[in-house]
Amino acid sequence: MATGHLSPPLAVSSPRRLTCNRNQPPVSAQPGRRAVLRSCSLPLLLGLAAADRGGWRIAAAVESRTVQQGEDGANGAAKASSKLVLVVGGTGGVGQLVVASLLSRKIKTRLLLRNPEKAVSLFGKQDESVLQVYEADTRNADAFSPEMFEGVTHVICTTGTTAFPSKRWEGDNTPEHVDWDGVRNFVSALPQTIKRLILVSSIGVTKYNEIPWSIMNLFGVLKYKKMAEDFVRNSGIPSTIIRPGRLTDGPYTSYDLNTLLKATAGERRAVEIGQGDKLVGEASRLVVAEACIQALDIESTQGQAYEISSVKGEGPGNDQEKWKELFAAAQSN
Ligand SMILES: NC(=O)c1ccc[n+]([C@@H]2O[C@H](COP(=O)([O-])OP(=O)(O)OC[C@H]3O[C@@H](n4cnc5c(N)ncnc54)[C@H](OP(=O)(O)O)[C@@H]3O)[C@@H](O)[C@H]2O)c1
Repeated sequence: MATGHLSPPLAVSSPRRLTCNRNQPPVSAQPGRRAVLRSCSLPLLLGLAAADRGGWRIAAAVESRTVQQGEDGANGAAKASSKLVLVVGGTGGVGQLVVASLLSRKIKTRLLLRNPEKAVSLFGKQDESVLQVYEADTRNADAFSPEMFEGVTHVICTTGTTAFPSKRWEGDNTPEHVDWDGVRNFVSALPQTIKRLILVSSIGVTKYNEIPWSIMNLFGVLKYKKMAEDFVRNSGIPSTIIRPGRLTDGPYTSYDLNTLLKATAGERRAVEIGQGDKLVGEASRLVVAEACIQALDIESTQGQAYEISSVKGEGPGNDQEKWKELFAAAQSN
């Protein structure tokens, strides 16, 4: 796999990959070609002082966060990670926060996106050795190639669509095709060497025939998410399922990497984790993103499904010990 060097746009049919390098002008992706983007146009990354956009508080700067975090989020000097995390759905609300947080931890990240160009506007200038982007619509089982998974150690899947008909269903991008076909397709393509696969699902998946969940499930979203969960569990790849309540905070679609990293969940930073699909409530996308990243490294989460919600109070932040305690407490209840 090529990292850290530039290739000219090649006349290869697939996969399409987008890379970023700061020294040369951009070359747009062309259908049927590997998408090589030289020097991503930069969003404004600097000077985002304390502000409140749409209720979102802007907190510490990315620079200080990068310095304070090691690979596992613990305090300490920043160090390069040996992980290569594949994020599927990295342009979405939770997905963006996962990607921003991985990058701030200096964890190499690879994205599978329907539209690779979105990565540029969202995550700005990133060296290919840090962020790689491949094009794949998960509904298409033929969209995947071994090159996309080469070197990948961990996977986080945050794909989804709306539960009810909306513009986002355009082109048949429905829960059946995204939450079921899509997850099945890409999990089937994953190598068995993956150390951990995290799937973001939903609360209510085990009781989609019961009111009020049956209303949410009118178009099958909970049923298809449960089918995907079962597929992941039976895939042979060590996995963890994260089931959030109704998501709050974000998506931050028009924001840039620096802003993403400064977002905080206001007063609702505390986390509740449950098992057995009994928990109800809302979950901050920030908290869900952090739960996904923490679960990658917490051994006890393997093979488990957790419901998650955020409540008022101080939360675990990125403290791995606190997350370990939270996951352990959920398992013992
Ligand atoms: N919203 C809620 O209240 C709620 C509650 C519980 C659970 N959840 C689940 O939590 C997860 C994260 O939610 P979210 O609101 O943060 O997500 P989101 O903003 O809806 O993002 C969904 C992501 O999936 C990608 N995607 C959609 N169809 C795709 C396809 N055919 N191929 C490849 N990628 C595709 C989107 O890419 P594009 O940028 O190309 O569209 C986007 O990156 C989802 O699984 C969602 O169902 C949501």
